[in-house]
Amino acid sequence: MTVTTSHYSLLAVLCVVLIVLYFAKRSLDIINNPPKSKKKGYGASEDEPVPLPTPLNITPEEVKTRDDRPWRPFRWPYHQTMSIFKLDVNHWLDMDKYYYDYIKEKERVIHTYGPDNFDSLPGSEDACLELMETVKEHMLLRYPLLFTTPDNGVHVKNELTGEVLDFSEPLKENPLVYISKMAKEDFYVVRKGEDGAHRLVAAAVPFPGGSFGIKYKLGKTLDVIHTEVPYYEEKLKPSMEKWFSRMKPADLVERASWYISWDHKLLLNNVYALKEGDKVQSDILPSQFNVRVERQTLRRLPKSKAIIFTNHPVFYSIDEMKDEPLVPSLIRKIIYEAPESICKYKNFQSFRDHLLPYLNNLVDEQIKKGLITEDTPVKTMPTYPFASFLKDSDDTKGWSNPKYPVNYSKEFHKEIETAPVLERDTFARSAKVGNLIFSST
Ligand code: HEM
Ligand SMILES: *[C@@H]1O[C@H](CO)[C@@H](O)[C@H](O)[C@H]1NC(C)=O
Repeated sequence: MTVTTSHYSLLAVLCVVLIVLYFAKRSLDIINNPPKSKKKGYGASEDEPVPLPTPLNITPEEVKTRDDRPWRPFRWPYHQTMSIFKLDVNHWLDMDKYYYDYIKEKERVIHTYGPDNFDSLPGSEDACLELMETVKEHMLLRYPLLFTTPDNGVHVKNELTGEVLDFSEPLKENPLVYISKMAKEDFYVVRKGEDGAHRLVAAAVPFPGGSFGIKYKLGKTLDVIHTEVPYYEEKLKPSMEKWFSRMKPADLVERASWYISWDHKLLLNNVYALKEGDKVQSDILPSQFNVRVERQTLRRLPKSKAIIFTNHPVFYSIDEMKDEPLVPSLIRKIIYEAPESICKYKNFQSFRDHLLPYLNNLVDEQIKKGLITEDTPVKTMPTYPFASFLKDSDDTKGWSNPKYPVNYSKEFHKEIETAPVLERDTFARSAKVGNLIFSST
């Protein structure tokens, strides 16, 4: 090696170290709100490179027992805010033991409902292709043992499902299908029109949970899509627009919202399949109640400039969280005392009286065990939006609940058996009234 080349490689190593340090520092900065306009210079500059993920060498066997980061997105006081956090690109598309179930369930939804849940508008082709390439690159870089390629990405084997995806041109299938065979997330592709409004131009959304098919949302502006969302106009819309007007490809964020249901279904939950005014059946056990966390991310693609919104549902039973200080108290407070419009949107009335004795008991138990006292203020936990045991593990090992490990795969499969009937009835009803949430008759 000559002196010159070793100098160059030293310089290159130094650059890499500096870049790594820079991102390491940036990822420490958590943001709860979009930047105030005073704070000039926040966020990435236009030409800052989009961060690439680092390899996580987990095997398909390890994924089978792996849990994702433990979300606990309960806030009190409950103000409707964007509540976004800076996202480490490594967590854009996470892996957990339910991956197999989710990919299988996606197949069922595509097969049964097709364009109701997977569709794109003319003019979104470049954005969808860019998204497909971005997802593929992410999977190959982040999970080298889960996604492999013999020919630089022309063929990619999903080692989890065993399927080989053929990316040679012309593509055999819609890019949305390729995306859905690699990632367990729902994807929304949003573009800014000449009128300045952001519209949904493509979507692969098998798991909306409560809102009805994306066929009603495609081509609509974000304002129209969020019509039913409490405080959208006055609180969310202004922050969202400000955020979108500044968001660069290197600014990745995540957020989480949640609701409660007494099942683990992904396409349509029991709580949103009820008719207006109906209540949970009286024989449902408290242990069947789950918090469905909607873990969401936002990023911008550099070429098409499209905004990509992902959503990934994951369930935590109230039971598995019972010994986490304040969790039962927070849930009880929120389902009764959150603003009326939010209670209605999340259909809390349909089950809260049924759940109250159980929650009361959990709170009493926490006091008896000394986890909280009578006077502990019920407010957002210090480890928000995660459980305290986040710090006890890492990416390689994953985050199984150390005290009450859970695996809802079996229940999920049982629930799916009866899902089609529930779906048919509920969708038929919602088609008549134009909205699933609070559809009557
Ligand atoms: C950029 C693309 C986005 C898309 C495509 C999108 C789409 C949706 C959809 C389909 C729903 C369900 C609406 C329904 O009930 O029918 C929803 C709900 C909601 N969205 Fe968005 N959204 C986006 C961005 C955001 C952002 C940035 C925020 C942050 C403020 C946000 C906040 C909410 C909230 C608060 C709800 C109500 C449910 C909940 O509590 O999460 N959305 N969104
Ligand atoms: C979870 O349950 C499913 C279905 O019963 C089973 O196949 C799987 O091995 C279980 N996984 C773990 C990590 O226990």
